[in-house]
Amino acid sequence: MFITFEGTEGCGKSTLIRNLSTRLQTLGVPHLVTREPGGSRTAEEIRKVILNEEMDPLTELFLYEAARAEHFRNTIAPALKQGKWVLCDRFTDSTLAYQGYARGIALPMIRTLNRIASHRKSPDLTFFLDLPVEIGLARASDPNRFEREGVEFQKKVRKGFLEIAKKEKRFRVIRVSKLDPDQVCEKVVRELRKYL
Ligand code: TMP
Repeated sequence: MFITFEGTEGCGKSTLIRNLSTRLQTLGVPHLVTREPGGSRTAEEIRKVILNEEMDPLTELFLYEAARAEHFRNTIAPALKQGKWVLCDRFTDSTLAYQGYARGIALPMIRTLNRIASHRKSPDLTFFLDLPVEIGLARASDPNRFEREGVEFQKKVRKGFLEIAKKEKRFRVIRVSKLDPDQVCEKVVRELRKYL
């Protein structure tokens, strides 16, 4: 299983993935936790540049895709080949939501680049943690470049994810504003039990 986790800033993805990894360990499911941008040596280096430097939107898009190509070949593909479940914090849908729906780069071009960088592999399941953007942004203690873009940008990102969710059967939308981290994890585990 290749499972991705998406959401706007501060939605609780990292906490969920940590809790879920503990649960999968208890259940004896071999898995790998990874993230984008990053997840391999070179991709982590690219991450530092993307998150810290100002740049042209196209440069940003190409760097995300470059990091993805590295990450997919060196980390994701080998783990899937070994039969591990891969839990990935963000993937191609983030590029569509942030660089496409929010920054305004043409979606068909992003879809093409996404396919190339990920060797046409789509996630089997994608959990979108849906949280009002104001709540998520208020949680950011050391805001990155994207968090500093503010509420209107984040609203476009969220709308983008919800548009994608309407079209993609693999999407599961979880409204997290009234749930604590354990409840979010429980919902995800309940869904994943179908695949165990
Ligand atoms: P993170 O804060 O979830 O680690 O993600 C880093 C930032 O990168 C986050 O603000 C979302 C952004 N991002 C994109 O804009 N496009 C992408 O393709 C990915 C993977 C992340």
